[in-house]
Amino acid sequence: MVSEQNQLKNVKWTFRNHSVGMIAENDFQWVEEKLAPVRAGEVLVRNLYLSLDPTNRVWMGEKDTYMPALKEGEVMRGLAIGVVEKSNHPAFKAGDAVQGLLGWQKYLVSTGEGLITLPQLPGLPLEAHFGMLGHIGLTAHYGLLHIGKPKPGETVVVSAAAGAVGSLTGQIAKIKGCRVIGTAGSDEKCRYLTQELGFDGAINYKKEPLAERLRELCPRGIDVYFDNVGGTTLDAVLDQINDFGRIVACGMISAYNAPDAPFTSRHMVNIVVRRVLMQGFVCLDHPEYAPGAYQDLINWHLAGKLKYRLDVVEGLENAVTAINKLFTGANQGKLLVKVS
Ligand SMILES: NC(=O)c1ccc[n+]([C@@H]2O[C@H](COP(=O)([O-])OP(=O)(O)OC[C@H]3O[C@@H](n4cnc5c(N)ncnc54)[C@H](OP(=O)(O)O)[C@@H]3O)[C@@H](O)[C@H]2O)c1
Repeated sequence: MVSEQNQLKNVKWTFRNHSVGMIAENDFQWVEEKLAPVRAGEVLVRNLYLSLDPTNRVWMGEKDTYMPALKEGEVMRGLAIGVVEKSNHPAFKAGDAVQGLLGWQKYLVSTGEGLITLPQLPGLPLEAHFGMLGHIGLTAHYGLLHIGKPKPGETVVVSAAAGAVGSLTGQIAKIKGCRVIGTAGSDEKCRYLTQELGFDGAINYKKEPLAERLRELCPRGIDVYFDNVGGTTLDAVLDQINDFGRIVACGMISAYNAPDAPFTSRHMVNIVVRRVLMQGFVCLDHPEYAPGAYQDLINWHLAGKLKYRLDVVEGLENAVTAINKLFTGANQGKLLVKVS
């Protein structure tokens, strides 16, 4: 007799080839398959929300990074939140919400390795685990407070400031009593930063002269730069960074679609002469830091001091076209795919 679960059909995107430039449908293959049975010690998870992240592009590169490069035929790697549909595993029960590298697919039969059971948070929807907590919240909190170490009254600049990580980072810097300036790629995003999130200033780097505007908005120089983009923005900040300034190297999205482009900086020498600390980090390295960070983020959110917004795209089949929103700047907040 064929069990009900054996008749479930899985759909998934598998990785096809390394490429540069914008991500194309051709970089993946859409696969439909019958689901494997759930054996002893395994769970069946149905994905609810898939997180689309700039780092997906990094994983698609030819070289191993902090994770191995993807191989042809492998299900596209991706963080997701799912629900346990069936469990033959003592640590999970049907109905549990779980998070992990569940992949760009509808269903997953898992041994439970790497699966985290998500707590129900009063007053917060499940998606908050991606919008404000999870890897996004941990990155903003750890990067700014542990590496940037901003002091009250200091000037903090955040790039990609209207995005998922950047918007939390700027608000945390405000909570810590700093003057906060954000850069973003549209007037609407700049308005969101100053009028809704309380930033002291915002620069539309696509149409305003960045160096000049930074000088106007940061008259006492820049103490902390939370860098999400690298490239010319990083260089403009390096010119205006103060002695003993800190640069939190969180991401360099301007380079992700062109990994072989030469790095050009006219102001790198300021790292030396101004005794600047510049440190990169990957949030996955700091699980021990997460519980305290999440508690802060929840408290600030419930007190009305920390907002997040989500950009939810319907349907796994749209994941490949949707991910390019991160590189054109079309996303308005944390980019997610509603899988089911
Ligand atoms: N270190 C870690 O552990 C860690 C963890 C998570 C994320 N990150 C990094 O944090 C950064 C932000 O990630 P996110 O998930 O929060 O994404 P996001 O900011 O929500 O979306 C990416 C944004 O980057 C901006 N952007 C794209 N191409 C750009 C370019 N060439 N120059 C300048 N800005 C550009 C766009 O905003 P505009 O409209 O403003 O251009 C886009 O909306 C990324 O660099 C990511 O790799 C690091």
